[in-house]
Parts: sequence; structure tokens; C-alpha cells
Amino acid sequence: MASAVLDLRSRPLKDLRISLTDRCNFRCTYCMPRSVFGPGYQFLTPSSVMSFDEIVRLVQISQGLGVENIRLTGGEPLLRTGLDHLINRLSQVKGIRQILLTTNGSRLTQPLAKRLKESGLTRVTISLDALDEETFKSINDVGFSSQGVLQAIDYAAEAGLTPVKINMVVKKNVNADQILTMADRFRHSGHILRFIEFMDVGNSNRWSYQDVVSGQSIVETIHEKWPLKPLAPSRPGEVARRYQYADGGGEIGIISSVSQPFCTSCTRARLSAEGKLYLCLFANQSVDLLTPLRQGADDQELAFLWRTAWTTRDDQYSLDRAAIPVMRNKVEMSHIGG
Ligand code: GTP
Ligand code: 5AD
Ligand code: SF4
Ligand code: SF4
Repeated sequence: MASAVLDLRSRPLKDLRISLTDRCNFRCTYCMPRSVFGPGYQFLTPSSVMSFDEIVRLVQISQGLGVENIRLTGGEPLLRTGLDHLINRLSQVKGIRQILLTTNGSRLTQPLAKRLKESGLTRVTISLDALDEETFKSINDVGFSSQGVLQAIDYAAEAGLTPVKINMVVKKNVNADQILTMADRFRHSGHILRFIEFMDVGNSNRWSYQDVVSGQSIVETIHEKWPLKPLAPSRPGEVARRYQYADGGGEIGIISSVSQPFCTSCTRARLSAEGKLYLCLFANQSVDLLTPLRQGADDQELAFLWRTAWTTRDDQYSLDRAAIPVMRNKVEMSHIGG
């Protein structure tokens, strides 16, 4: 077992979220608004993005520092071809317990879901912000239908990528009217619907506290119609608070990163597609690991860079949010995958 590497707040490194690309085929208004991510936006060049060999090498190193769970994200990770090959290789890295994927589902076909499962993917989380077609299409801003995402959820479940988790980012006056519709659709489905407070990630999404629907009020809205009972966390450091329907309708999750931050148990590091290590979702600084790797640094040198970054980590942005003056140059969500 890897020896625990603790940060300045005694938090071990356990989870690594890897962005495979900063590109996405959606333009969700809360993440990649068209006004910013339009035709003139400078995405990473293909040569600056980590290859699968480079990703596997960095994962091996991270495992030596304590990482057990890998989450593949984007932008949209399924835009990378050959993802099953990467997953297959990652699943063979000693000490890696789970390989997870967060996707918008638009590219998840039935054969691909099966291939991903066979390659060693543990389960998937699929984003779906509304069932109402007009609402969903206006959020993703590319006219993708909620029916298409529901299809992807079915494919994932049929392939055994279970339990499928469904992420719904809730924004006031945008899709809050979909809370009960979504809850109803996924009750008794075996899938876990999670309601996420709209966060102030990056600098592009025009975040305002006025647009946040609190996790507590979401719980109350659902509880009034279908009584809920709280569940204990399934593991330390879990971001979602769990509830189950009293009538046996299954589980939901509430991710209240704005109103009830969970920084004290944050064991997550993030790697951008260009191989930069971020210690917080809201960071405006990173440690470049890919450049030294490409310049020939050996595993010990890369592990030293990583260990030094983690052991000097002090971040707890969500807890400090109110006290921090407006921060500029925060990394974009599509760059480090949430
Ligand atoms: P599982 O519960 O294990 O499936 O994963 P997860 O909830 O960590 O992953 P997912 O990619 O589904 O993220 C759900 C939401 O929580 C997204 O909006 C993330 O941006 C948010 N989130 C995940 N990790 C963090 C974190 O460290 N800090 C903050 N503030 N938000 C996070
Ligand atoms: N606030 C909360 N969640 C967000 N996501 C993207 N942008 C935001 C935001 N500003 C979600 C996506 C995806 C997950 C990785 O993060 O919808 O489900
Ligand atoms: Fe939407 Fe996810 Fe793409 Fe962002 S990365 S635009 S949240 S689908
Ligand atoms: Fe971790 Fe930063 Fe999120 Fe807090 S805000 S939970 S420190 S990633």
C-alpha cells in the first residue's frame, strides 16, 4: 500500500480527476457559454494534450502517493478516441481501485458502453439538467435532446456501468422547475440522481449567488412530495449528501458545495489535459508535470514535484469563499473537468 501523503490540513491524496480534453460538443450556459467559447476560442493544441502513455505514467506515479480512484472527465472525455484502450491500461495499474467517467452522454453508444465496461470502467456519471426538451436544449445550447441522454443512461445501465449517477446542475429561473420532474423520472429506476448547486467555477459563467438553489431547499421540495430519509455517507470525503425515498424509491444525492462546503475532507487532485496539476477546483495556479516528463524527468523527480505540491497544499476555497475577494484567472471547469 502507498504511504499516505498529507497536505497542510492533514488530508490524504486519494482521488485523481483527469481531464482528457478541454473541448466539448455542448455549450452549457453555466460551463462553456458560447459568448466565451465561440469560434475564436483557443483550445489546447493536440500536441500539448497528454497522450495515453503520459497519462498512464502519471497515474502510476500518483498511485505511489496514495491515489486509488481515477475519474476521467473533460470537457467531454468521449471526444477522445480509443478511450477503452486507456481504461484498459489504467485498470492494470497496481493499487487503482476504481475508474470512473463523467460524461454528457451524447457520444455513448451501446457498443461503446459495453467496450468501456469490458475494458475495466467501474461506472459512469451522466449529466442531465432537465427532461423538458426546450429547457435542456437551451441549457446545452447545441440542441441536443434529453431523449438522447436518457438513451445513453439506458446503454450504461445495460452494460453494467452501475449504479449510473445522473448530475443535474440546478439554476434558479432556468431549470429549478425540473426538480420534481427529474426526481419522479428517476425514482425506482435504480439510478442515483444528484442535484448540484450552481458553482462559481472559472470566470466565464457569470455566477451569482442569486442563481443558486440551495441543496436544503431542494431536499425540502422533494420531501414534501415523496418523504426522504438521510443516509450515512458511503465513504469518507463523499461530495454528495445521500437520501433515500421512504417508500423504497431509491437514492438521491445533494451536492451543496456552495451552501455546505466539503473542503475539510477533500482528497482530490486534478490533472488538466495538458498535464498541469491543480490542487483545488477553484485554483488559479498549477504545477506543470507534463513539461518535465517530456524533458526526461524520471519517476522519482516527478513524484517529488507532486509530493511537494500536495504536502504544501492549503486550499479550501469553498469554505473561504465569503472571505476571499473576487478571484480572477480561476481555471475553467471545462479545463479541469469539475
Ligand atoms: P462520485 O460521487 O464518486 O460518483 O463522484 P463525484 O460526485 O465526485 O463526481 P462528479 O464528476 O459527478 O461531480 C459531481 C459534482 O460535484 C460536480 O459539479 C463537481 O464539480 C462537484 N465536485 C466534485 N469534486 C468537487 C470538489 O472537490 N470541490 C467542489 N467544490 N466540487 C466538486
Ligand atoms: N456548477 C456546478 N456544477 C457544474 N458542472 C459544470 N459546471 C458547473 C458549475 N458551474 C457539472 C457538470 C458535470 C460535473 C462534472 O460538473 O454538469 O455534471
Ligand atoms: Fe456541459 Fe459538461 Fe460540456 Fe461543460 S463539459 S459544456 S458541463 S457537457
Ligand atoms: Fe476541494 Fe477546493 Fe472543492 Fe474545497 S473547493 S472541496 S478544497 S476542490
